Amino acid sequence: MGELLLVLDEGTTSTRAMLFAPDGRCCGCAQEAITQHHPGPGLVEHDAAEIWRKTHRVASAMVRQAGGGARIAAIGIANQRETVVFWDRVSGEPLAPALVWQDRRTAELCRALREDGHEPAMQAKTGLLLDPYFSASKIAWAMRNWPQLAEAGDRLAIGTVESWLVWKLTGGLHVTDATNASRTGLMAIASGAWDDALLDLFDVPRQALPEIVDCAGPFGETHAFGDPIAICGLAGDQQAATIGQTCLSPGESKATFGTGAFILTQYGARVPTSRHRLLSTVAWQLSGRRAYALEGSVFVAGSLVQWLRDSLGLIGSAAETEALARSVPDSGGVMLVPALAGLGAPWWAPEAKAALTGLTFASGKAHLVRAALEAMANQTHDLKTAFAADGADWHRLRIDGGMVANDWMAQDLADLLDIPVERPAFIETTALGAAMLAGLGAGLFADLEEAAGMRGPVETFLPSLEANRRETRLADWARAVRSVID
Ligand code: G3P
Repeated sequence: MGELLLVLDEGTTSTRAMLFAPDGRCCGCAQEAITQHHPGPGLVEHDAAEIWRKTHRVASAMVRQAGGGARIAAIGIANQRETVVFWDRVSGEPLAPALVWQDRRTAELCRALREDGHEPAMQAKTGLLLDPYFSASKIAWAMRNWPQLAEAGDRLAIGTVESWLVWKLTGGLHVTDATNASRTGLMAIASGAWDDALLDLFDVPRQALPEIVDCAGPFGETHAFGDPIAICGLAGDQQAATIGQTCLSPGESKATFGTGAFILTQYGARVPTSRHRLLSTVAWQLSGRRAYALEGSVFVAGSLVQWLRDSLGLIGSAAETEALARSVPDSGGVMLVPALAGLGAPWWAPEAKAALTGLTFASGKAHLVRAALEAMANQTHDLKTAFAADGADWHRLRIDGGMVANDWMAQDLADLLDIPVERPAFIETTALGAAMLAGLGAGLFADLEEAAGMRGPVETFLPSLEANRRETRLADWARAVRSVID
């Protein structure tokens, strides 16, 4: 058996394949962008065929680099969560566009269900809220609006992105892991099983859904790259990052700044209950036993910088933002509330629109870019307040994701949160977590604690902002947020 671990990290904006050695060294990476389709305001779709084609291409490149499938011990998959794919079991082709987690088309449907009093039961069963973010209302909308889905009858398969990839890799295995299933709004979080009452509420045909399995396998084999390779790790990307950051003990917290920003605090075997609009979620499931986490989901993080670059043309590359932010002493009173896809936790305002406030003739590009970066720490601070109110305050935060390569932003997080912030030298912890799960499933490690040896050194940023500057900024931010949700 080979020793290398092949990770497929299928994010919202890119698909990546990475090779890891069991000591945590990353020995190769290939990446392709995923096309974002925006057929109207608030609508976000992906082409599942493109996701598979590009994933296959980047994975093939890594298998070649490894010297063939025989050199690879196992595949681990981490994926954008909640996004739903609809496909035909016979042809293996998508039947409709994939509805992406950021898509807001079901805001009205969720509001109606909330007004009918369904949210408390939904929250108690699933740990989630009635928001378009989760898969359930997206499936309900698709079943009502795309007749080809009902027409497909028993041929219809529905799944999140890891299900789709496993199906394509194995030629017909239909599984989802418990972390991804916990984001659909259809799984009872305490039992780890699909909930019949919720399937009825959202008109979801049970036979179209995958079987819910652990995060470490083996689950099946792929012949898609020549020699067979076992698929041994599956997790939603934020849960994979929690594992990659080795948040293995209750209270340990991580924040990943990717397309969005997602903060998870480990809870152990106890299902958390939030009274402050946070989510309860499965952190991982191994040998049928689940560990849980409390989550705060921020919908816009790296996608804001991408928008400044691609839609506004304000910057040429994301790397420019650090020097621009440093070039001014503060944002000059400019505040950017990045509600470009509504607002997630703790506000849950799907129809909120973004706002830029505090502009004067003295405001320049650097102020605007600094306000965009400051919005990351501002949003994270709102979550810290909610976590603290739920009895799970953070005393230290582990950060990762592409955005935190920016030292200024890492320091700003420490300053505004007023706690030490730890950044690992290798910031792609989502992929690392998927590699740890794959290694565990392949028997390279006995448990997650042993797999944690894959994590490398960390750097700590200590808070150093004067209290009055923090307070003024937080008060300005609170006013700006109120203006978009009131
Ligand atoms: O819940 C959505 C999340 O999984 C998306 O992750 O990495 O694309 O920001 P990412």
